[in-house]
Amino acid sequence: MRIDIITVQPDLLESPFSHSIMKRARNKGLLEVNVHQLRDYSTLKNSQTDDYQFGGGAGMVMMIEPLVNAIESLQKEVTYDEIIYMTPDGQKFDQRTANRLSMKGNLLIICGHYKGIDERVREHFVTMEISIGDFVLSGGELAAAVVVDAIGRLLPGVLGDETSALFDSFQDDLLAPPVYTRPEEFRGWKVPAILMSGDHRKIDEWRHEEAVRRTKARRPDMLDHD
Ligand code: ADE
Repeated sequence: MRIDIITVQPDLLESPFSHSIMKRARNKGLLEVNVHQLRDYSTLKNSQTDDYQFGGGAGMVMMIEPLVNAIESLQKEVTYDEIIYMTPDGQKFDQRTANRLSMKGNLLIICGHYKGIDERVREHFVTMEISIGDFVLSGGELAAAVVVDAIGRLLPGVLGDETSALFDSFQDDLLAPPVYTRPEEFRGWKVPAILMSGDHRKIDEWRHEEAVRRTKARRPDMLDHD
């Protein structure tokens, strides 16, 4: 999968994809992430990319021209399955969307800043708008990093243990059950005996019950649908 990201702050996106699972995905050639500086597509003095909003009001708006230059220049190289704009008024990101996006070929992500991007870019180029939650970040970069991470780890071959993503919280509409590792006892706090029993059918049952219990207690809304 190839993901291109357009931003005025490429530095913010250098580190998130250079560690651990994302690093492995890139090194294995399963995920290509390219970060593009929007200023390089400006034809204005000082590589300007934002301007005052029409109608007045505080806050700058990201201009249509550099954005369209960037999008169209990338489109000469790649056909995108989705052009995504990161924005707090987009559709709320969840595991289902991560799954769906992980099955696409190429994605282009646009990170907004200030008041956002000129609406005409959203109307004529953007195919999907994503919010990572009901709060406002100072830019779309961290949100884009969240989305790319959630998608990247789902790509076949990225996780060492192929099954491990299947048991993630949310993957089957349940939160994940508790997990333990050595030592078996610490300050008198014991690991549930069932996990030491070697009976894998029973262990699976216990994990499922714990997942349901945890979901009922913490996220009953997840059990509301059939
Ligand atoms: N940009 C600013 N806030 C955001 C959010 N909550 N989700 C996605 N992009 C954003």
